[in-house]
Amino acid sequence: MQHLRSNNSDIYFGGIGYQKLNSFLSKNQFSIIFVLVDENTHEHCLPYFLGALETKVTIEIIEIESGEVNKTIETCAGVWNAMSELNGDRKSLMINLGGGVITDMGGFIASTFKRGIEFINVPTTLLSMVDASVGGKTGVDLGSLKNQVGVFNEGEMVIVDPYYLSTLPDEQLRSGYAEILKHALITSDKDWQLVKNIKEKTLEELEVIIIRSVHIKNDVVLEDALENGLRKTLNFGHTLGHAVESYFLAHPEKELLLHGEAIAIGMILATHLSKQLFDFPEEKLIDIKKEILSIYDPVDITEDDLNEIKQLLIHDKKNSFGNINFVLLSDIGKHLLDVEVREKQISAAFAFYRV
Ligand SMILES: NC(=O)c1ccc[n+]([C@@H]2O[C@H](COP(=O)([O-])OP(=O)(O)OC[C@H]3O[C@@H](n4cnc5c(N)ncnc54)[C@H](O)[C@@H]3O)[C@@H](O)[C@H]2O)c1
Ligand SMILES: [Zn+2]
Repeated sequence: MQHLRSNNSDIYFGGIGYQKLNSFLSKNQFSIIFVLVDENTHEHCLPYFLGALETKVTIEIIEIESGEVNKTIETCAGVWNAMSELNGDRKSLMINLGGGVITDMGGFIASTFKRGIEFINVPTTLLSMVDASVGGKTGVDLGSLKNQVGVFNEGEMVIVDPYYLSTLPDEQLRSGYAEILKHALITSDKDWQLVKNIKEKTLEELEVIIIRSVHIKNDVVLEDALENGLRKTLNFGHTLGHAVESYFLAHPEKELLLHGEAIAIGMILATHLSKQLFDFPEEKLIDIKKEILSIYDPVDITEDDLNEIKQLLIHDKKNSFGNINFVLLSDIGKHLLDVEVREKQISAAFAFYRV
């Protein structure tokens, strides 16, 4: 399968994506094509991408500095100004070539420039291939608040080409595995079996897994584009995972955790909570923990750390654990939304993670 249809956009896998893009460009009379990159995708991805592009339309490269710290409205203003100075108009096209920072921010920039121009995502990290570039969430951070400003808008097309992974740093690849494991866990035992031992897979095997993972995300988004219900399942592992992520971000003297590493911890914790509350099968819990710890080194979380992480949870979500909405599972593929969890259950989950 080389093609998936989302609500309003097409997702193509591999080389066929460039053929579709080229015919899309020849059918539409774009005035100018902007390609948004950061310094890393400029160096590693842009030459290959431009080599696959066939068009007579003027192409302008706009480069921003890489990193989540630059996913801000100030960066957007710089890009809007550049587009304006380059005579961008409503018939301009934006192509976002990069990781989730580029696709989230580029999608937002395109959705708002001149009240909206068309855009295409070409994700170059594993995380953006299986997660960020699909589903239409675009936006930027506001201070320390993630994704506070943005719009739902799917681009015209997404091209998922695993070729780009060949230059991706190992830790970024590892970070992306977590969302793939999450997609499998919320879907079925069969999917879990497919993704197990993910770090031992060949690139060909990984491609099959990526396609399946995008398929799962797309199915969820097709049913619930605006996150009124089912889409919340994609938050599996993220409630506690985000708290762990924020805690370690606020303590740079401790380890630096990537998003995927924090979410992986969050998934072990959420699975343990699932066992405590809904009898999630113990042997599967042990299997999940083993798989996750084969990818990510265990993180030392002391009793003091745990207390602060709990505080973060409380402050984040209005003063009571009852108000924090957990996505849990009664089995692999069987989710429960908006579950209330008690503090001592959270402590028990961390105790399980630590041993
Ligand atoms: N919209 C959504 O639904 C959604 C879902 C999940 C995550 N996100 C967002 O995605 C962002 C994280 O995305 P990310 O993990 O891709 O991070 P990222 O975009 O910061 O990319 C990670 C690093 O890899 C570099 N890089 C990218 N492609 C490369 C390549 N092929 N070769 C070498 N280096 C490369 C980048 O320059 C960057 O330094 C977050 O801002 C998050 O909020 C959005
Ligand atoms: Zn995530």
